[in-house]
Amino acid sequence: MLITLAQAAQALKEGQLVAFPTETVYGLGADANNDAAVSAVFAAKGRPAHHPLIVHVQNAAQAAHFATHLPPLAERLMQHFWPGPLTLILPRHPGVATAAAGGQASIGLRCPAHPVAQALLQAAQALGVSGVAAPSANRFGRISPTTAAHVADDFGDSLAVLDGGPCEVGIESSIVDLSRTDPVLLRPGGISRADLQAAMGQRFADPEAMAQEAPRASGTLQAHYAPRAKLRLMDARTLDTALQVLGADVDGIALYTRQAIRVPGRSMRRYAMPHDARVAARRLFADLREIDATGVRLIWVETPPDGPEWEGVHDRLRRAAAA
Ligand code: TXA
Ligand code: MG
Repeated sequence: MLITLAQAAQALKEGQLVAFPTETVYGLGADANNDAAVSAVFAAKGRPAHHPLIVHVQNAAQAAHFATHLPPLAERLMQHFWPGPLTLILPRHPGVATAAAGGQASIGLRCPAHPVAQALLQAAQALGVSGVAAPSANRFGRISPTTAAHVADDFGDSLAVLDGGPCEVGIESSIVDLSRTDPVLLRPGGISRADLQAAMGQRFADPEAMAQEAPRASGTLQAHYAPRAKLRLMDARTLDTALQVLGADVDGIALYTRQAIRVPGRSMRRYAMPHDARVAARRLFADLREIDATGVRLIWVETPPDGPEWEGVHDRLRRAAAA
């Protein structure tokens, strides 16, 4: 059910769940300091309780409520990219947002740029809610939502949703872990690796080298973001060959490609992946949901280009294919 901004802030204050828009994807929000409300988020999603949630804050000053301190790299990244699609993992104040942090000693903080998210955080803060814990508003392991309708598809009409239109970025925030010895890019996302490294003035450490200190992150699970259909990634040539081998027997298969691929039969379901990386990211989850809703068994996706601007899209497709 759609609700107003004032209702959403009040609901958060009362410990209820509210789905709200951000520039990346819709979040399923709860008061970060209300452990019971946070447990309800885990239960609604079907997400294991030790997978930490991102806490959304209105500005960098609010981050101090949750993080023990801001390392110089955090300050630099916040200055460049907040508000925006960047989550920072920082050392957590013991005793705050314990359930949201999944019991980790660290906390993931993000300041979203979406005006509706900003207004909600401000209104909630005025009622004493100092941060909103929110994973993506989809069932665990499924495709993230980029419209209010996607949220309703996953959770039904009983969930309160604040509608802010379709998300601009379309894939989740980049997650930078600053709680370990060296900075690690835990999840590629809305801001490119190159831009993050330029702002930090240094490169990310190899995640393997830091793996022993690594916390759990469902966004980093091998299999995630999956449609119901089996998704396969292939380059254009392999796709072409596979289709010629199949002949007219293409029932139950959909194509999602940038290039025009020769198809043997007229009945083939074909969807166009945008040529521009930003647009492709914006469209990705909505397109996969739309294709999945046709009931096809297989989605054959053309592997995106290797350029750094495609890293986030490539990552989501690889995980979807691993399911
Ligand atoms: O764009 C986004 O980041 C969206 C919107 C709603 O803000 N949120 C999102 O949340 O993608 P979620 O829960 O689907 O993914 C959060 C990721 C997970 O992989 C989680 O494990 C990781 O962030 N994370 C959160 N806190 C962490 C922590 N303290 N240490 C390591 N990873 C953490
Ligand atoms: Mg998610």
